[in-house]
Amino acid sequence: MLQLCAQRFQGLLGKCAAYSHRLYSAHPAFQADGTGRILPHGGELVDLLVPGSHEKMDLVKSCKYTQECSDRNACDVELLSVGGFSPLKGFMNRDVYEQVVANMRLPANNLIFGLPVVFDTNNERIKEGDRMLLKYKGQDIGVLEVESKWVPNKARETKECYRTSSLEHPGVQMVSMERGKYYLGGKVWGLELPKREFPCATPRVVRAMLPADQDVVVFQCRNPVHRAHYELFTRALHAPNVRPGAVCLVHPTVGPTQDDDIPGIVRYHTYEVLKAELQNPAIFWAYLPYSMHMAGPREAIQHMLIRKNYGCTHFIVGRDMAGSKSCLTGEDFYGLYDAQDFANKYAAELGMQTVPSADVVYTEERGYVTADIAKKEGLHVRKLSGTKFRQMLRGGEDIPEWFAFKSVVNVLRAHTQSS
Ligand code: ADX
Repeated sequence: MLQLCAQRFQGLLGKCAAYSHRLYSAHPAFQADGTGRILPHGGELVDLLVPGSHEKMDLVKSCKYTQECSDRNACDVELLSVGGFSPLKGFMNRDVYEQVVANMRLPANNLIFGLPVVFDTNNERIKEGDRMLLKYKGQDIGVLEVESKWVPNKARETKECYRTSSLEHPGVQMVSMERGKYYLGGKVWGLELPKREFPCATPRVVRAMLPADQDVVVFQCRNPVHRAHYELFTRALHAPNVRPGAVCLVHPTVGPTQDDDIPGIVRYHTYEVLKAELQNPAIFWAYLPYSMHMAGPREAIQHMLIRKNYGCTHFIVGRDMAGSKSCLTGEDFYGLYDAQDFANKYAAELGMQTVPSADVVYTEERGYVTADIAKKEGLHVRKLSGTKFRQMLRGGEDIPEWFAFKSVVNVLRAHTQSS
């Protein structure tokens, strides 16, 4: 245990050892495709988008039912269509769902999959063999051919995937209360990508944008990029298991997230100003139409495999990734490093590497260091919680620059005032 802690908190020890260095000394390069980018999960990038307009029309005509997608469904349809969920070619059928819930694996090939990808409905009449037109805000975004329909055991799903079936967990609430009574699985055809207020580059486009034969370190986030995040992803480029010449992809999720998070569209504007301000050629930016589940460890795996499909070789994982608290007691559902440990455990099998980071805090004496160093050296730690930060924004108070970029704060303030 002591050794584990020591390894974990090696991170940020002075300038050159920015990150914990667990088991990564002699690393094989990733398994590359013909273009020098990492192979997608399962070996091939899935593309479910139907190119021809006649084929599209025939598909629409063949549908017996129409259903409006939720924002979450629309993210799933989009990610399926563009191959973000490769090797999936549709929503999971019941047998696949059961295996993913129980063992985190796809039965056909034993590949790891972190969380189920299912379509939910309250439609009593639709049955196996029927086709359903999936609509979203006036667009026809896809067709689902129902291969299985079932009433899921949501208590079991949540217990396995979220490690709790308590409604105090936002992801459990979403599964239990937002989703319909039935799940549908089956083949999907993508008709059109949802029109968003800003583009979400597809895996194909992101892969083409990234340099070949280089390590690509991805930074997933669902918050605006603050100073701590910036430290994480800039230092990650110099982590011991990352080769010189690596680039970083900042790849925030912009789909639905927990209620008190800052909406994707507002964060998008913060990312764009920061991108323009940093002008760092080693940092690439793209947006992911993914809906957060706050499933901690399982979700870390989901994010990793999706990013593999987008061409990333390394995954930054810090403290309490995709974690959540009880809406009643405020208690954390996961340990600070549960998601990180889980990601480390499965990284090799995924053909990826992690760039783990210990909890970093800002200190008056040394700037950002790990929390344990701050403690050991008796440094003066400055703290600002996300909740307090949002309160200060709303109250028009000054936000300290050690915490957030001024440009980012200005965007957030403009939004807070206009909403
Ligand atoms: S999420 O992916 O974990 O849901 P979030 O925006 O909160 O999104 O964090 C993005 C990444 O930064 C995660 O890997 C998280 O663990 C890491 N992270 C955020 N703040 C810190 C911190 N102070 N110390 C270490 N890691 C952090």
